Amino acid sequence: MRVYLDNAATTPLDKEVFDAMAPFMLEHFGNPSSIHSHGREVRSAIEKARRTVATLLNTSPAEVFFTSGGTEADNAAIVCTCRSLGIKHAITTKLEHHAVLHTMEMLEKQGDVQLSYLRHDERGNLDLEHLEELLANQPRTIVSIMHANNEIGTLNDIEKIGEICRKYDAIFHSDTVQTMGHYKHDVQQIGANFLVGSAHKFHGPKGVGFLYCDAATKIQPLIQGGAQERNMRGGTENVYGIIGLAKALEIAYRDMAEHQKHMQGLKDRMIYKLREQMEDVSFNGMSEFADKSLYTVLNVSLPASDINEMLLFSLDIAKISASGGSACSSGANAGSHVLRALGVDPSRGSVRFSFSKYNTEAEIDYVAETLAKMYKKELA
Ligand SMILES: Cc1ncc(COP(=O)(O)O)c(C=O)c1O
Repeated sequence: MRVYLDNAATTPLDKEVFDAMAPFMLEHFGNPSSIHSHGREVRSAIEKARRTVATLLNTSPAEVFFTSGGTEADNAAIVCTCRSLGIKHAITTKLEHHAVLHTMEMLEKQGDVQLSYLRHDERGNLDLEHLEELLANQPRTIVSIMHANNEIGTLNDIEKIGEICRKYDAIFHSDTVQTMGHYKHDVQQIGANFLVGSAHKFHGPKGVGFLYCDAATKIQPLIQGGAQERNMRGGTENVYGIIGLAKALEIAYRDMAEHQKHMQGLKDRMIYKLREQMEDVSFNGMSEFADKSLYTVLNVSLPASDINEMLLFSLDIAKISASGGSACSSGANAGSHVLRALGVDPSRGSVRFSFSKYNTEAEIDYVAETLAKMYKKELA
């Protein structure tokens, strides 16, 4: 048995998505900017995909821009807001993905913004009173806070954060990469200026994503070039990527309730099995609480042991693919800025298991048993 439990890093492509993409690789190859029929048929497919995404998010197609993925969409929202709107103060958290954190650090280093970090507790829950304090004392600000953390799964109340931002006239960007396709996002209800999606996190293709930007927030493009994406992103569109993204999001919304139930069941089973078979096991962040964390992510905290150094490697030998931190550092246990920010005891091991609709109970049982055996042997 080979088990893939690293779905927060990336998910396998859905066959239905591939089938929707294939004709745009082989038959419909025109450049969507061309005025002839080869171009026009592809342009029309892109605009249909945009309408699909917009409808699912309860917004208009004019507010959806396709990008090369989550990282580019995060960069565009943050950098272009500061540049175009002359924003000089930014608020974020130490728990963000590097797509946000490194972008903010760069702006601070260049002297473009003064950066403030929001306080949080040892489980990653944010202090929203602190957010109000920071906003009350500052000029117009950009606030960038993720919907759910990719490493520990902790969910943030982005509707509440959106409300606070509106109260202080702040621009609100939420990195929704880990929740897009797993929860329903109604942009009218959330009230954020920017949301982000990345297709490969919900069984779509890699290298394509989108930025939702509300029409009232007028920013200039990050990537200069042609007039694509209504002058908001130069460069020939990733046509089959865009077709795949829209199809994957459509499927995710269509089957969401069923898949959520399935994955929450797998996560609960993993928690139960690990507690049953291991002595000193706990869970980082809020990942053991169903209503406070992503149903796709479980971050397990393991007893201090020599095995921790080689944990991911040992799991890999046992044919289990998991991760020790965010997607970008998976493979090597490169250490996690999130767990460090939470003050997690560095002598303990941690592993992130992340689930998809394709995982089974038999896989969960095998992984829990394998992990328990590894630690029993080591501690004996
Ligand atoms: C929370 C979060 N933001 C942004 C990204 C980057 O997305 P992409 O891989 O599409 O660039 C990731 C990917 O791991 C993520 O988990």
